[in-house]
Amino acid sequence: MSIRRLPEHLVNRIAAGEVVERPASALKELVENAIDAGAVRISIVLAQGGLGRIEVADDGCGMAKSEIALALERHATSKLPDDEIDQVTTLGFRGEALPSIASVARVTIESRVRGADGWSRIVDNGALAGEGPAALPPGTRVTVEELFARVPARRKFLRSERSEYAACLDVVKRLAMARPDIGFALEHDGRRTLSVQPNEDRPARVAALTDRELAGNSLAIDYARGPASLGGVAGLPTFNRGVADHQYLFVNGRPVKDRLLIGAVRAAYQDLLARDRHPVLALFIDLPGDEVDVNVHPAKTEVRFRDPGAIRGLIVGGLRHALDEAGHRSAQRPSASALGNWQPEPVRSPSFPLPTPGQAAVWDRHQHYSPQARAEPAVEAVPLAASYPLGVARGQVAATYIVAEAEDGLVLVDQHAAHERLVLERMRRAMANGGVARQALLLPEVVELDEPACDRIEARIAELEEMGLELERFGPRAILVRATPAMLGAGDVRGLIADLADELAAFDSALSLKEKLDLVAATMACHGSVRAGRLLSVAEMNALLREMEVTPHSGQCNHGRPTWVKLAHGDIEKLFGRK
Ligand SMILES: Nc1ncnc2c1ncn2[C@@H]1O[C@H](COP(=O)(O)OP(=O)(O)O)[C@@H](O)[C@H]1O
Ligand SMILES: [Mg+2]
Repeated sequence: MSIRRLPEHLVNRIAAGEVVERPASALKELVENAIDAGAVRISIVLAQGGLGRIEVADDGCGMAKSEIALALERHATSKLPDDEIDQVTTLGFRGEALPSIASVARVTIESRVRGADGWSRIVDNGALAGEGPAALPPGTRVTVEELFARVPARRKFLRSERSEYAACLDVVKRLAMARPDIGFALEHDGRRTLSVQPNEDRPARVAALTDRELAGNSLAIDYARGPASLGGVAGLPTFNRGVADHQYLFVNGRPVKDRLLIGAVRAAYQDLLARDRHPVLALFIDLPGDEVDVNVHPAKTEVRFRDPGAIRGLIVGGLRHALDEAGHRSAQRPSASALGNWQPEPVRSPSFPLPTPGQAAVWDRHQHYSPQARAEPAVEAVPLAASYPLGVARGQVAATYIVAEAEDGLVLVDQHAAHERLVLERMRRAMANGGVARQALLLPEVVELDEPACDRIEARIAELEEMGLELERFGPRAILVRATPAMLGAGDVRGLIADLADELAAFDSALSLKEKLDLVAATMACHGSVRAGRLLSVAEMNALLREMEVTPHSGQCNHGRPTWVKLAHGDIEKLFGRK
């Protein structure tokens, strides 16, 4: 066996296997190069999900004729002038991308330095295929055609044009999010699919690339720990999604994919969201170059932190801090579609319009109620509303919703969801301070359950006592309840114990109830005094509103749904065509 040096074109093709997995990875390298070149605007044209054609044009510094040839050589880079790989501030630094791409596609580079003439060079699967003068504005245009056409093994592994396009779009979004100072335009098969202007502020850019509604439903993150800082925007828990795809992480301006993020985000939003719901967020970590190694992956999408625990702490701490500050905020405005349900339809009868289908839908759940909205005399002076974000209670609808008047609009509160949240937060505080206050029942109540259910409760008696429930086994098929959590008010004890027994059946017996406090609290709240379908007095309603205002996270229930919405005066005016 003799060792031989591999020829250059083979080395490049091997590197291409790592750097250029699919059209999106080639696109990523080209856009990164445009960013590194100082571009203000980058325009991207794709055909067939990038399989047909990828074109990236920028107005950056451009390359002189001799530099174009060099750029296509392996390990030739302008980005490490002093060999300090730890301190690299550009997205590229390996000098591998262009030669790798050019070894598996037909690549045309046209470039022009300001004040000089343009030049172009074509390399087809590693071989020079032509060069000559080129007419273009200052900057660079790189065109990649027939990617993998001569690498059938690779082409076989590509997915549909549609999913290759989706991956390309994701790449552009992430880079555009990292650099709100740069304008980006993307066209796919002749259709403009993304366009953002240069010099946006970061929250606006993130919202433009994820969801416009995010702007009004997110928190600004600004947090530091030691030498590391965390910025960006985090969606309110109520603004959640069914998939975790809308989470973006950047380290020193570089989009990265990192499992650490997912775990840390989950921890930060724990018990603000149901398990299968995910927040929308974009987080930017900045830290000194020697705290992170960006050279652990050929495509540079992964990084290694010197102290991963500290980074996790930074993310959890920063998010938690912002979420705690947000207090009672929820997704404040009803969603556009819910608001649409309020739009009146043309009046059917001159005097008494029937409820529109939309209106009926809003209250569908409660159609079995005969109308029972109660309006209380306006005992409190209206100016008082000004001092309370959630306003003063004006009435109750369907024995489920509190209607309150705030200075800037009409507030609707889901009393049960809100109460559930308050119970959880109160319990959490009380448990941190040694236990939940109990209220002894005048007469202990005997709750009959089947034997396994009683066994499950009995096994947790000590834990439940900390949560304010004083219980005793009472024969094989009953539990004696001596005291309930004072915060629940007089509730339905029997229902509570039966439900707890059911919940315990579903719990992993290795978990402590503290770890499942949200479920326990939710179960308790369901049987407390402020459940849905109970009439509340104005005093009770106001007490609930005031407590919500001072309770962290009261803007969403334990499942991440909003506990209240506000119809701003402006929205009300729109409904009536006054605006
Ligand atoms: N769009 C561009 N504008 C100006 N220079 C570019 C552009 N694309 C590539 N270059 C030059 O080509 C070199 C090689 O690019 P590349 O192979 O991606 O390696 P790297 O980005 O790691 O340096 C870069 O260092 C840069 O000098
Ligand atoms: Mg590069």
